[in-house]
Amino acid sequence: MRMNSTLVINSKGGSGKTTVTTNLASHFAAHGVATTIMDYDPQGSSLAWVRLRAPHAPKIHGANAAPQKGGRLRSIEMHVPPQTRHLIIDAPAGASGLLLQELLARADCIIIPVAPSAIDIHATANFIRDLLLAGRVRARNTRLAVVANRVRSSMPVYQPLERFLGSLNLPLLTRLSDSDAFLKAAETGVGIFEMDALQSSAEREQFLPIATWVDPQLGSKADTAPKVVELPRAQPRLTISVPAFLRRF
Ligand SMILES: Nc1ncnc2c1ncn2[C@@H]1O[C@H](COP(=O)(O)OP(=O)(O)O)[C@@H](O)[C@H]1O
Ligand SMILES: [Mg+2]
Repeated sequence: MRMNSTLVINSKGGSGKTTVTTNLASHFAAHGVATTIMDYDPQGSSLAWVRLRAPHAPKIHGANAAPQKGGRLRSIEMHVPPQTRHLIIDAPAGASGLLLQELLARADCIIIPVAPSAIDIHATANFIRDLLLAGRVRARNTRLAVVANRVRSSMPVYQPLERFLGSLNLPLLTRLSDSDAFLKAAETGVGIFEMDALQSSAEREQFLPIATWVDPQLGSKADTAPKVVELPRAQPRLTISVPAFLRRF
């Protein structure tokens, strides 16, 4: 069986890359799927989360792909066990140039979490435009989707973002609420699917469309969340075509 690689990326820090990476990995691992997180961020938050996991928790392998100080070789720490079925790649903020090319070369699908501020939405729109213009994403037909993260009930809709995504025919997979469950999971080395169901049922329901999009077969088997949030523009698969107005850039 082939390995599927999911790149979680946004040019902005604090958008939820590590949150999506760790929860997606724990969802797959909890379903008995061999899962590796590859952390490209020098801050190493995903790897720190892997190290926090209890010995009896479903195993997630951590691979360190961050640039090493003092020119140490990355190759050993970057090792991905051959049995891995899902590789989730946590990107650093601001990846560009050769590093961005390396990340894109590894990705079968790309998830872009975005925080609800106008500044984040604007920066993310520019980032998505740059990604779509990168020949590699189009040439490899990489799937790409967006996740709205840290959504507050006072600001439930992202109209400018939704209009932008709609114009590119890109799916907004789900909205993750700003919730203590995500904070607690990050601090304790678990995923929301591994927490007490009573503490995280809304968050599980919100997160499941991400897992289903990445792995439709596993998603349909998931017993951990009964209902998938329906969103108007969510599409299970798409081919990226760059509209005329973007080709000018
Ligand atoms: N939906 C959420 N609800 C509550 N806290 C969140 C949520 N998403 C992220 N956070 C918290 O916000 C901070 C930044 O999120 P993180 O996933 O580390 O972003 P990034 O990896 O993009 O820098 C972390 O402390 C994380 O636990
Ligand atoms: Mg991070």
